[in-house]
Amino acid sequence: MSRVYNFSAGPSCLPEDVLKECAAEMLDYNGSGQSVMEMSHRSKDYEPIIADAEAMVRKLMNVPENYKVLFVQGGGSTQFAMVAENLGIHHKKAAYIETGVWAKKAAAEAKKLGVEVDIIASSKDKNYSYIPRVEKVSGDYDYVYICMNNTIMGTHYEYLPDTGDIPLVADISSCVLSEPLDVSKFGLLFAG
Ligand SMILES: Cc1ncc(COP(=O)(O)O)c(C=O)c1O
Repeated sequence: MSRVYNFSAGPSCLPEDVLKECAAEMLDYNGSGQSVMEMSHRSKDYEPIIADAEAMVRKLMNVPENYKVLFVQGGGSTQFAMVAENLGIHHKKAAYIETGVWAKKAAAEAKKLGVEVDIIASSKDKNYSYIPRVEKVSGDYDYVYICMNNTIMGTHYEYLPDTGDIPLVADISSCVLSEPLDVSKFGLLFAG
């Protein structure tokens, strides 16, 4: 068997030990006589799996106690809508910093859902090759949205805009767990 090295920003290499463990558990997870894919997500066998996953996320990302950790369906793109639906509810207005295809898609999704989108900064003028500097954001925004790591363009935020009391939302789909992050600086973080 020959295995390839896949350095893709999306799905990429996993350690062989992990893959072997998954393969072995495919027929019998932890003596349950079934795979994780086949068991009820409300069963006693499954409960520790999700509890441990949450505990690991909390520990590795140093998630403060007053933050919830959610595992939801739909990948990153569904969050473009869920952010707008759940946060864009008071002023129905949000500020987006446009740094590439994913931030653009997120803004388009919010607009579709009736949220007034202000593109407060954009790097479109230079084909999204840089992150615009936005020191401070104020206004009647329900949230400020950034895409922390722009998977296709290869740009990454090295600073965070000061949004005061306005929740800062960040898409960390292609940089989650790749560097220390102060979760308390954000209202919501998501990764698909
Ligand atoms: C930064 C970023 N956001 C969102 C997405 C979309 O995620 P999904 O494919 O899970 O919908 C991607 C996918 O590559 C991404 O790189």
